[in-house]
Amino acid sequence: MEPAQAGQRGGILLAPGGPRKPRCAPTYLYNAAMQATLPWPDRLIAALDQGLRALSASNTATRPSPAAGVAEGELSSSERRQSAALMRVNHAGEIAAQALYSGQALVARSQRTRQLLATAATEERDHLAWCAGRLDELGGRPSLLDPFWYAGSFCIGILAGLGNDAQSLGFVQETERQVETHLNDHLRRLPEQDAKSAAILTRMAEDEARHGTTAGLAGGAELPRPIRRCMGFGGEILRRIAWIV
Ligand SMILES: [Fe+2]
Ligand SMILES: [Fe+2]
Repeated sequence: MEPAQAGQRGGILLAPGGPRKPRCAPTYLYNAAMQATLPWPDRLIAALDQGLRALSASNTATRPSPAAGVAEGELSSSERRQSAALMRVNHAGEIAAQALYSGQALVARSQRTRQLLATAATEERDHLAWCAGRLDELGGRPSLLDPFWYAGSFCIGILAGLGNDAQSLGFVQETERQVETHLNDHLRRLPEQDAKSAAILTRMAEDEARHGTTAGLAGGAELPRPIRRCMGFGGEILRRIAWIV
C-alpha cells in the first residue's frame, strides 16, 4: 500500500518526498495495437477508459522525458511563471490531441487507420506525461478546463472521422502542422535558461512532424481552406484560455 502522503498531481504519480519521473511502459505499444483490432462496442469502452485515464489517472510515458539529464536552469519567479503557463497550454493541447485521436479512431473505417491513430496516440501520451512532469517541476498546474478540452476535442475527432479515412488522415496532417508551428512559437517564448522545457518541446515538435508526415503518406487528403482556418481558430481559443485557467 502507498504511504498516506503519496498522491497524484498533474497526471503524474507523486511519491513521498517529491514527484516521481514518468516511467517507461512498453506494454502501452502492445495495448495500442490490440485496441485497434477491437470490435466497435469494445472500442467505445476503451475510448471512455482512455479519456478517464488522460484526465484523472497517472499517465505513463513509453519513453524517458527528453528533459531527463538536462540541468535545471536558474529561473526568476516571473520566468518560472512564464514557463509554467507555456507548459500548461502545451499540456492542455496534449489532452486535446489524445481526445482527437481517440474520437477519430472510434469511427475510423479501416483497421490500418485505427492502428496509425493508436500508435500516434501512444506518443501523444508520452507528451502528456512529459508536460505534466515539467509543469509539476515548475510549480504549475494543469488547465482547470481539461475535461472541457477533452470532451470538445473528442466530439471534433468523431466529426473529423465520420467522412472517410482520407479526410480523417488529412485532419491529422493539418492538426500536426498547426501544432508544430505552435510549438516552435513556444520554443521562442520560453525563458532562455529553461533548457528542460525546451528539450521537451523540441522532441514533441519532431514527433508531431512525423505524425503529420505519416498521416500524409497513408493517404491524408488536403482539407479545404475554411476547415483549416476553423481548426486554427479552435487552437487559438485553447491557447488563450489555457494560458489563464
Ligand atoms: Fe503531441
Ligand atoms: Fe502528434
